[in-house]
Amino acid sequence: MTTHKIINTSAANMAEIKDKSIALVVTSPPYPMIEMWDNSFSEQSDKVKFSLENKDYDAAFDGMHEVLDQVWNEVDRVLIDGGIACINIGDATKNCNGNFRLFSNHARILSFFMKHGYSVLPDIIWRKQTNAPNKFMGSGMYPPGAYVTYEHEYILILRKGLKREFKKLEEKTNRRQSAYFWEERNVWFSDIWSLSGTAQKMKIENSRQRSGAFPFEIAYRLINMYSVKKDTVLDPFTGTGTTLLASLLSERNSVGTEIEFSLCENMFNDTVKIKKQLNKYIEDRIKKHQEFVEEQKQLGKDKFYINNNHGFEVKTQQEIEACFNEIDEITKDGFNLNCSYKKIEMGS
Ligand SMILES: C[S@@+](CC[C@H](N)C(=O)[O-])C[C@H]1O[C@@H](n2cnc3c(N)ncnc32)[C@H](O)[C@@H]1O
Repeated sequence: MTTHKIINTSAANMAEIKDKSIALVVTSPPYPMIEMWDNSFSEQSDKVKFSLENKDYDAAFDGMHEVLDQVWNEVDRVLIDGGIACINIGDATKNCNGNFRLFSNHARILSFFMKHGYSVLPDIIWRKQTNAPNKFMGSGMYPPGAYVTYEHEYILILRKGLKREFKKLEEKTNRRQSAYFWEERNVWFSDIWSLSGTAQKMKIENSRQRSGAFPFEIAYRLINMYSVKKDTVLDPFTGTGTTLLASLLSERNSVGTEIEFSLCENMFNDTVKIKKQLNKYIEDRIKKHQEFVEEQKQLGKDKFYINNNHGFEVKTQQEIEACFNEIDEITKDGFNLNCSYKKIEMGS
């Protein structure tokens, strides 16, 4: 059983969330110096409002990050020792009073966490290539005034303190059951993820433009890579609730805060649809694995282990206890969801 909760509050004060209760944060804040978030920042900071009005862009950048710093302080408070924060952030390019330049949001956020003693782990580049004919900016074919087109964002991966330990038998068993497939490891733990807009299969709602939502696949991978079943995952900037839904499917508990509640207040309404879409996702994952095993056999590779829970073949011993459950029942109570699961039976 897992529980999921959205709270209509600013993440700068997450009083409802206890100290050291969160194992993983998966989030994407509003991006400083990207126009679509100017109003959100101005509403949260007079310094930002005033600086933008006066076209003082360096001060605006500082002010926007000061807004985010308050949230990162709260993230630090609620994370367990060894807990991980995955932050999806894009840098911003802007023409400032005639001077085209970059505002490095990812560097500024890294600097905050480094100052707070976090271990910076290797990050992921989320590559979002566009084919727009007008994507190159500046002086065209004349050097040196043309600018590299930005088609990537970062997923920063930050750990609070030392590596988390799993000492008790129960913890070890849970960890083994949370294993992912070998072939998924090879893709998920590569440093460039080319997930374009069109690869976003999970469209539970349609206000992506307005919300700056990330693909379900991003949240789902990160949750499975950096937490174990029964953990609690936090998204301080819930938006449309992608992280909460990916947590639900991954058998993690979740909690999210959001100031623009209209984006997510209806996300739990259609539990029948949520169950259907999410279960399809996990069934496709298993199907993909079985196709992988068949391909391997055709290549003459015949060393496999048998997974104890489902009876299918797996590539390594670490996958033997991996257990894949689908959603059995979702019950709704206001802005809280409870979810129960049942084991995926093969051939059903
Ligand atoms: C980039 S979007 C997140 C999108 C989300 N990952 C999704 O998949 O839908 C950032 C969100 O943070 C919210 N936000 C901005 N400042 C906030 C704050 N101080 N506390 C909570 N939410 C905030 C915005 O309203 C917006 O919905």
